[in-house]
Amino acid sequence: MEIEPEVRKGIDECVDRWKDKEGNLIMILHEIQNQHGYVPREASLLLAEKTGVPMARIYEVITFYHYFRLVPQGKHNVTVCNGTACYLKGAGRLLSTFEQKLKIKDGETSEDRMFHLETVRCIGCCGMSPALVIDKNTLGKMVPEKIEKIVDDILASEQTNEN
Ligand code: FES
Repeated sequence: MEIEPEVRKGIDECVDRWKDKEGNLIMILHEIQNQHGYVPREASLLLAEKTGVPMARIYEVITFYHYFRLVPQGKHNVTVCNGTACYLKGAGRLLSTFEQKLKIKDGETSEDRMFHLETVRCIGCCGMSPALVIDKNTLGKMVPEKIEKIVDDILASEQTNEN
């Protein structure tokens, strides 16, 4: 796989900076994620090549810490709570409505990178279940019927911003 020059340069610098320090793998992964918004596979490959740490170990660390992401985020991020309280109040229907409307599945980012959709276990407002977070806004007592308009409003504001 061809590794883009700027990815290579960023990782070269990062590895040089952290190579003799303790906990360096995690710090390097943090920097990679800060640079790209996620940890691209090509970055992991290069990191393995430069440090001699096996890919399996790198992926073990990435998947252990939920902070790290393997897919790029969207400009707008939709997080549907699928914890017990929300699940019992219909989180599944919320998720499937978003999946249909955005044409992506749980954990995916749309091709234009406009939306990322994911589920989490409890966002700490079970009294408002079913709840979700769009960008930084928490929305409670959500019903599928509202989702169409929420997404359309975001798309409309994007178009306004473009004009
Ligand atoms: S289970 Fe959804 S907010 Fe707690």
